[in-house]
Amino acid sequence: MNKNDSYDLVVKSPGRINLIGEHVDYNGGHVLPGAIDKKITLKFKKNNTNSATVYSKNIDSQFTIDLSNLNRSTIEWHNYIIGVIYYINILKPKSVKGFDCYIDSNLPLGSGVSSSAALECGIAKGLNELFIIGLTDIEIINLSKDAEHTMVGTKCGIMDQFAVVKGEKNNLLLLNCKTNDYETIKVDFGDYKLVLLNTNVSHNLASSEYNVRRSECETAMETIKAKYNEYEYLCDVEPQIIKEFKNLLPEKIYNRALYVSKENQRTLKAVEAIKRNDLDALGGLLYKSHEGLSNLYEVSCNELDFLVDCSKKYDQILGARMMGGGFGGCTINIIHKDFVDNLIEEISYAYRNEFSIDLTPIAVHIDDGVKI
Ligand code: GLA
Repeated sequence: MNKNDSYDLVVKSPGRINLIGEHVDYNGGHVLPGAIDKKITLKFKKNNTNSATVYSKNIDSQFTIDLSNLNRSTIEWHNYIIGVIYYINILKPKSVKGFDCYIDSNLPLGSGVSSSAALECGIAKGLNELFIIGLTDIEIINLSKDAEHTMVGTKCGIMDQFAVVKGEKNNLLLLNCKTNDYETIKVDFGDYKLVLLNTNVSHNLASSEYNVRRSECETAMETIKAKYNEYEYLCDVEPQIIKEFKNLLPEKIYNRALYVSKENQRTLKAVEAIKRNDLDALGGLLYKSHEGLSNLYEVSCNELDFLVDCSKKYDQILGARMMGGGFGGCTINIIHKDFVDNLIEEISYAYRNEFSIDLTPIAVHIDDGVKI
């Protein structure tokens, strides 16, 4: 397959950032993500057969899917695509016919900017258009999430797929993951820029521990509900109530619950800070979020902690924290525009000295969601 072949349609599917509200989406909380200007490009054409052939330029690899016999693959990236087709067919039987798809990307893989949701939603949006299937955005969001649960095995929340599909240029989305209602929050940080620092590590604990955290939250909820049946999600429970369970829950489970409850509140406080243009307060919330993710929720790693500690040394950096599922990937930083280059250089130097790894800075702009 060649990028110069003629295609019937081209989809651009972005990655996402999340300013704050980490690991709260699957607990019915509030998150503050946005789509970014780094994207996967997917070119589609019908091939009038009963199979789909998908080529990825970045890994120079191609595979073919028999559409009448959809099975899980042993290769992870195949499963995002097979899973999406599987779930489209559940909602709209036999709607996906033979197609070729050429994929190219400037979105770093495994860096916590959700290349997986970009791939799922890009495939779903493209097939929806190519075969005039009539799926709504929310159906695309949910089926992409389901594909990740079943075919890939990560029991993710809805944040990534939501941001990829519903993102709006220059706006973050304050998304209530309980109701799927959202408010757009204009991003204008004046002299400050959002910069991601990619640790370039991705520890393989990421997907297994992710599911463990999710079930730890469910365990906490079972105990809390035994006393307070009115709460449906962990994020509904205020920190004061969680504290009543300090001696009733195992320490780790208590810590997870306390983190989640406080992080949900931090997202709402962050939005208030943005609205009153109080970037110092916003930065402080990012640091608090990282502390919780590292000490209570235990999804950080040495490389991420090192970068956040480095950021704290500079007044020109208002806040920093790990972003996404954790165990590697990026930190998100709010840095004064006049110091971005210098600080990146200093932090990269320190990081290389400590870990012998090169850091990759990614300047992100908040952009529109997936587009045909
Ligand atoms: C991953 C998941 C999301 C969310 C984040 C953590 O990106 O896909 O659903 O849980 O981790 O906030």
